[in-house]
Amino acid sequence: MSEIVLGVSGGVAAYKAALLVRLFTEAGHGVQVVPTDSSLEFVGRATWEALSGRPVHTGVFSDVHEVPHVRIGQHADLVVVAPATANTLARAAAGIADDLLTNTLLTARCPVLMAPAMHTEMWEHAATQANVRTLRERGVVVLDPAVGRLTGSDSGRGRLPEPEQILAAALSLLAGHPRDLVGRHVVVSAGGTREYLDPVRYLGNRSSGLQGIALAEAAVARGATVTLVGANLALPTPAGVEVVPVVSTADLRAAMLERVIGADAVVMAAAPADFRPTKYVDSKIKKTLDGTAPVIELEENPDVLAELVRERTGVAPVIVGFAAETGDTNGSVLDHARAKLARKGCDLLVVNDVSDGRVFGLGETEAVVLTADGAAHEVPHGPKSVLAHEVWRHVADRLGRAAQ
Ligand code: CTP
Repeated sequence: MSEIVLGVSGGVAAYKAALLVRLFTEAGHGVQVVPTDSSLEFVGRATWEALSGRPVHTGVFSDVHEVPHVRIGQHADLVVVAPATANTLARAAAGIADDLLTNTLLTARCPVLMAPAMHTEMWEHAATQANVRTLRERGVVVLDPAVGRLTGSDSGRGRLPEPEQILAAALSLLAGHPRDLVGRHVVVSAGGTREYLDPVRYLGNRSSGLQGIALAEAAVARGATVTLVGANLALPTPAGVEVVPVVSTADLRAAMLERVIGADAVVMAAAPADFRPTKYVDSKIKKTLDGTAPVIELEENPDVLAELVRERTGVAPVIVGFAAETGDTNGSVLDHARAKLARKGCDLLVVNDVSDGRVFGLGETEAVVLTADGAAHEVPHGPKSVLAHEVWRHVADRLGRAAQ
């Protein structure tokens, strides 16, 4: 159980922090809520005390004998500020200590996670951007706000990321992953592509996108700038990630070739359809009166991973492929995977054994990470986030060696 300080500053999104307290306590952590005075205009002290089971103060002159302005920060394993307003970001960046929250930020030596929420104009203002840069340079993890509906009828960038997304970023920081991808741009593909036959029917596959999403989340936790090319994702995507939605393998290919320019690493976790119908029918295909079923002719899609390898210049970017394999009479899962690594020419191949329908849509997985030198690193059964961090550990290692 860890001790989490939840700073809440004065924006309308403060109500979402109530759910965050619930999520933290349900995950077994102790939560000390430290609201700012102005946040109490939005959500009152009673809510925080009831949800956290602890007394809640905004200033430094309550319970002075316990020296809370120093004690709370010193005892925290993680400080989360959600929502972080433009004003709170500015005070934190300037080192101002004029309430309990900003005092806590100065005394905390643990990881700090800030989830900004404000109107688009305030987020984009040069002052806010400079403050965010300063905080990030000091190691504070500042999530990018989400795009969507804001306080009134307007919408744009500035929404507080969903509480579940903040929770995921917080848990990752508590797990203490190294920040070995700071300054790196990584591109991850996720999900299964769809090849439409007509406006309502498509050929698809069982990929849920969970592994790609876990990879994107893990890369954010390790400090990377992350682009997630998502094929038909039905799941929430991590905060702080640029998401490029795509439908077909052709879309995925175009998005990947564009985003990969200047990237440090690419992970092809998506399951692109290998075939597409040779023709698309503009209106829904109707049943015939005599009951004859249509015959669907297919043609092959391009292999995106192979193309990324072909297009690469020099050693960058590091390219990671995934392989869903089953063993057969011609060889074991690893035999097939080694042949695929050689065929595709990528740097790393993550091999999942999918015999008996394993892996698809589950939160857990087991895999082998094959490196181009032929070494096989087993990742035992566990959450997809663990495999994701293993992949990034290998990628960071390779990037480090390439830089030497
Ligand atoms: N992949 C790709 N483009 C495709 C198909 C696959 O980029 N049209 C990528 C996947 O994202 C994955 C890797 O290639 O990283 C392996 O995919 P897989 O379907 O297992 O490989 P295939 O080459 O299609 O081999 P197989 O004959 O086993 O289907």
